[in-house]
Amino acid sequence: MDITVKPFTVNDAQGDLCAVFLLEGGPADMHPLVQQAVESKDMTGSFGTSLLMPAYRSFAAKRLLIVGLGKPQELTIERVRKAAATVIVKAKELKLKALTLVMPDVSLDDLPLVTAMAEGAILSDYAYSKHTDQQHEKQQHVQTVHIAVGERDAKQLQTLVSRTTSICEGVRLVRDLVNEGSDLVNTLHIEKICGEIAAKHGLAITVLDEKDVVEEGLNLLHAVGRSGSTPPRLIILEYKGNPGSGERVALVGKTITFDTGGVNLKPTGHVETMHQDMAGGATVLGVLDVACTLKIPVNIIAVVAAAENGLGPGAYKPGEIFTSYAGKTVEVKSTDAEGRLVLADAIAYTIKHHAPTALVDVATLTGAALVALGTHVIPVIGNNTILSSKLFDAGQRTYERIWLMPLYDEYKDEIKSDVADMKNLGDQRNAGTIAGAAFINAFVGTTPWAHLDIAGVAFLEKGRGYTPQGATGSGVRLLIDLLSHWENGLTAEETKG
Ligand code: BES
Ligand code: ZN
Ligand code: MN
Repeated sequence: MDITVKPFTVNDAQGDLCAVFLLEGGPADMHPLVQQAVESKDMTGSFGTSLLMPAYRSFAAKRLLIVGLGKPQELTIERVRKAAATVIVKAKELKLKALTLVMPDVSLDDLPLVTAMAEGAILSDYAYSKHTDQQHEKQQHVQTVHIAVGERDAKQLQTLVSRTTSICEGVRLVRDLVNEGSDLVNTLHIEKICGEIAAKHGLAITVLDEKDVVEEGLNLLHAVGRSGSTPPRLIILEYKGNPGSGERVALVGKTITFDTGGVNLKPTGHVETMHQDMAGGATVLGVLDVACTLKIPVNIIAVVAAAENGLGPGAYKPGEIFTSYAGKTVEVKSTDAEGRLVLADAIAYTIKHHAPTALVDVATLTGAALVALGTHVIPVIGNNTILSSKLFDAGQRTYERIWLMPLYDEYKDEIKSDVADMKNLGDQRNAGTIAGAAFINAFVGTTPWAHLDIAGVAFLEKGRGYTPQGATGSGVRLLIDLLSHWENGLTAEETKG
């Protein structure tokens, strides 16, 4: 989809369809066609409704779609994203190619408003269509979208729409990688993608192959990956967005290309979508790619801990004890709690070799995240209030919302083992998301850290709004927003007097 800002009004709108957004009760100066629909009570502007009309007379576009924005006092940026998605879904249904969205006159600022329109349009136009009839799918994509901005500053808005397009490209990359099956997106494919991103942006890249993983003593990563159909990898990419600064933000992604559960095999009903278990690593790569494209002035160390949690004669087993990269011994209680194992080694290695000043890990870590917060909110656990609150703010702005969970000492006690320094399961099966974070916490030391458990939000069984069924790419917009607002990093913001 090509999306461009045009200095058009409703009447200049050409193409197959022109969409106008209507608030309940307003505005006073409606286009005659819209006014007709309102007067006949065919359209009230209620949120979630839309009305398709054939256009005529002086109207240049072939159809008019009126999309309800709801009551003015209930209008939010998120509603705008959803309303823009409504237009795209309708256009796809009707196989229309060229659309105009008329930017409404509402109480929201123009900049977030146009961003939301672009996000809603681009993100809802996604389809995982690689394995379906290409021609058929192509027909169902919208090709051009004009955002008619009237007399507003088209140049300024276009800059923002272009930026949004780049960010949504990152979301698309993640969705494609996560939707694809694990035979294709295996650890070697992940390595290849990392190499492509490094080449595209001229980044330094380090790849530890299975031999290096053993030699370096990344024994947890090796244990998890040792019976995978492709071998484990630890891959590190470095982007120097702000060479003058000593700050380095590490983004570490769980990249389990398939999670069978291992010897603690996942049952039918849980195993089918476990190709999604590399969503953390995919998110890290998507964020890095976008950050480089947008030249975000932050130094980033992107770390991908890739392994397949397979099941075979060589698979690691419950009861085994491994010495982690950090030196702590770990008793394996469940081979299905593999994410925290690969992250522990990846994080310890990152801290030792790159000394990040902040570290964010992203992982489809626990089904308990889905139980706790469902598919709408990302549970976050961390050790630094500034980092957590920056993430919270980024979540509010992007609607990729986070909610902070506690990590009190009692939770840390639950992962103590009788026979090793720690075990990879909590005593009880309660508070599983926190238990997972408590394990990771033991490898973080004093580095400011936040853990994003995206197991609930990474993959939707049923699509909604601007998020089609399957991989969501959740986390990309959140982390790009975080990095875009990094400013003085984790130094406490000055209290404004
Ligand atoms: N990859 C899963 C978590 C998951 C579940 C991701 C659902 C996406 C959707 C993780 O490795 C796992 O198996 N977690 C276990 C943890 C348990 C063994 C402590 C779980 O959630 O049951
Ligand atoms: Zn997993
Ligand atoms: Mn698992």
